[in-house]
Amino acid sequence: MTMHIALLPGDGIGPEVVAEGVKVLRAVAQRFALDLQLDEGLIGGAAIDQTGQPLPPETAALCEAADAVLLGAVGGPKWDDPLAPVRPEQGLLAIRKHLGLFANLRPVTIHPMLVDASPLRPERLEGVDLLVVRELTGGIYFGAKQLERDAAGEWASDLCHYHETEIVRVVRVAANLARTRHGKLTLVDKANVLETSRLWRRVTTRVMQEEFSDLSYDWMLVDACAMHLLRKPSDFDVIVTENMFGDILTDEASMLAGSMGMLPSASLGAGNKGLYEPIHGSAPDIAGQGRANPLATILSCALLLRHSLNQEAAARAVEAAVSAVIEAGCVTGDLARPDQRAQSTSAVGDAVVAQLV
Ligand code: IPM
Ligand code: MG
Repeated sequence: MTMHIALLPGDGIGPEVVAEGVKVLRAVAQRFALDLQLDEGLIGGAAIDQTGQPLPPETAALCEAADAVLLGAVGGPKWDDPLAPVRPEQGLLAIRKHLGLFANLRPVTIHPMLVDASPLRPERLEGVDLLVVRELTGGIYFGAKQLERDAAGEWASDLCHYHETEIVRVVRVAANLARTRHGKLTLVDKANVLETSRLWRRVTTRVMQEEFSDLSYDWMLVDACAMHLLRKPSDFDVIVTENMFGDILTDEASMLAGSMGMLPSASLGAGNKGLYEPIHGSAPDIAGQGRANPLATILSCALLLRHSLNQEAAARAVEAAVSAVIEAGCVTGDLARPDQRAQSTSAVGDAVVAQLV
C-alpha cells in the first residue's frame, strides 16, 4: 500500500532541514520495505512569492490527499512588514485549521550527551521526560482580530475564544497519552484572570474525574509553570494547555533539551492524518549556510512514522539512530561542545542515514 507524504519545506532553513528528513524517510522506507510517495508543495513566504497566497489551494489539496505532512518552517524578514495583508504564518495556521489538527504534541527529552548544552545545571535535568499537548486550532490565534483608529490613535484587539468541545477533545488526547507514560496530567491555565481559563479548568476537571480517575491530575497557573519548568522540570509528565501558552512554554522547554533544534512536534486531529514539524522557526540568520540542526525535523519524521503510518518499529529505529549520532558527537554548532567540531546539516543527516541502513 502506497503511503503519501506531502512535503512543505517553506522558508529559511525549512528546505535544508526537510531535505535531511527526506533522506531519513527514504532510508527507512528501504529498510522496512515501506512504499512511500513524497510530493512537494508550497507554503509560507515561498508560496506568497510564487502564487501570492501563503497556502495555495494546490497545497491544501495535496495535504488533504496525503497520509501525513512534513513541514519545515515559515517566515522571514522579507515578509515581515507588520501591515502586509498576507503573511507566511497565515499559511501554517491555515493548514493546521484546514486539516483539523487540534492537538499538538511536543515531547521534551534530554539526551545524556547534551546535558551540557542546556543552560540549566545538570542535576536539574535528571529524569526530565515531559510532553506538552498544545491546543492548536482555537484560542487567541484564531479569534476575531481588529485594528482600528479613533480620535486618540490606533487600537487593536485579538479575541480569545474557546468552546468546551474544543477543550474536551484535546484533554482526551493528552490524558490518553498520560496513560501510556507516567500517568500524570497537568493543566496549565491563567484561571485567576481569564474566563477562558476558568472554562478550561472546569471542563478538564470534569473530564478527568469522569473518564480518567486512574490518572493523577493537577493544574498550574501559566506564570508559575514558566518558573517550575526551570526549577524542577522532572516533576512534569504531560502538560495540556491552550494554544498561546503552549507556544510560549515549548520554546522555554526546548532549552532543557539544549537547543530549539532538538524538539519535534506532531499535530493530530480526529483521524490518523498528522502534520509533523520541528518547533523551531525559519532561522533566517543561518539559512542557506548548512548550519541548521536537522534533528528536530528527523525526530518529527519518527513521530510521523509512529502516529500517521503506524510504523512503531521504524519510528524507534529513527530515534535510536539519532541517539547514536549524538553519542558519536556528530552534531551541528548549536550543540557542539568546545572540544567538538560542528558538523553541517547534511553531514548530520547522512550520519543518521548511515545508522539506518
Ligand atoms: C510554532 C510557531 C508558530 C506558532 C508560528 C510560526 C505561527 O511559533 O509552531 O510554535 O506560533 O504556532
Ligand atoms: Mg512557537
